[in-house]
Amino acid sequence: MITGPSSGIGLVIAKTLAADGFHVVAAGRSEARVTAVVDEIVSDGGSAEFLHLDLASLESARRAGETFIASRRPLDLLVNNAGIGISQRGKTEDGFEVHFGINHLGHFLLTKLLLDAMSPNARVVQVASSVHFSAKGVPFDRLRRGTSLIGYREYAVSKLANVLFVRELARRWPDLATYAVHPGLVDTPLIPAWSKPFLRGRLLTPSQGADTPLWCATSDEVVGETGFYYAHRTRLDPSEPAQDDRLAAELWERSIEWCELAGH
Ligand SMILES: NC(=O)c1ccc[n+]([C@@H]2O[C@H](COP(=O)([O-])OP(=O)(O)OC[C@H]3O[C@@H](n4cnc5c(N)ncnc54)[C@H](OP(=O)(O)O)[C@@H]3O)[C@@H](O)[C@H]2O)c1
Repeated sequence: MITGPSSGIGLVIAKTLAADGFHVVAAGRSEARVTAVVDEIVSDGGSAEFLHLDLASLESARRAGETFIASRRPLDLLVNNAGIGISQRGKTEDGFEVHFGINHLGHFLLTKLLLDAMSPNARVVQVASSVHFSAKGVPFDRLRRGTSLIGYREYAVSKLANVLFVRELARRWPDLATYAVHPGLVDTPLIPAWSKPFLRGRLLTPSQGADTPLWCATSDEVVGETGFYYAHRTRLDPSEPAQDDRLAAELWERSIEWCELAGH
């Protein structure tokens, strides 16, 4: 299953996995955009299906997770790729700041529900970002406030949450293989158009950006590793707050409460 397969890095990941023989569950909020991708995969000889998922709604994330569970199929790979970048503003349906709600909390709920379907060698790849280095911590008291002018701070917090989530997921489910990945600076619609002239020559193509997430998703080289952070096919130290086990545990506990999930 891949979230956000309609564009950018996720589109390349979905098509590559399908070409490698995976049946792809393409989970996205726009039926028209995602179905177009599914149709393309199928016409290329691959196998895929659409699953409705709007990460700005916990109800939608819950429905998506429960729909997959009800199909009683094993899940071999979950790529949490969908995301919004800076210059997006507002709150999710549940009243969370949009970056935190979409990039972290919706994925948290989806993943937590899907753990029941994971096959023995399942992997969870979370597309994070090196921008997490800009976040000093998770401002728990501000997550229900609106977005600041540019949204950079909120984006950084959401990406720190992605790295912490992978760390805590690995601690709680040591048999699962899970990886947080920085894809590089990639030329996709997530990069604001006004900034692209300043970044000319530095932007990777979506295929280049998909390389390390795909490597974590499928390579034998990462077998036996879990909970770590990668870029350029290399395991790297994430920021100091991203290595804070107490912060990771607190984020997990609070996310459970926000999603109203029972258990741990
Ligand atoms: N581009 C970069 O330089 C860069 C750098 C570091 C990390 N990343 C990370 O890479 C990931 C992919 O980003 P990208 O650059 O490929 O951006 P993109 O081309 O804009 O793709 C984002 C994807 O997320 C989906 N999405 C957005 N909001 C959603 C929601 N509420 N529910 C479900 N799906 C939603 C989009 O669907 P729609 O088609 O419906 O909008 C789209 O499929 C993100 O997690 C991003 O943080 C990107």
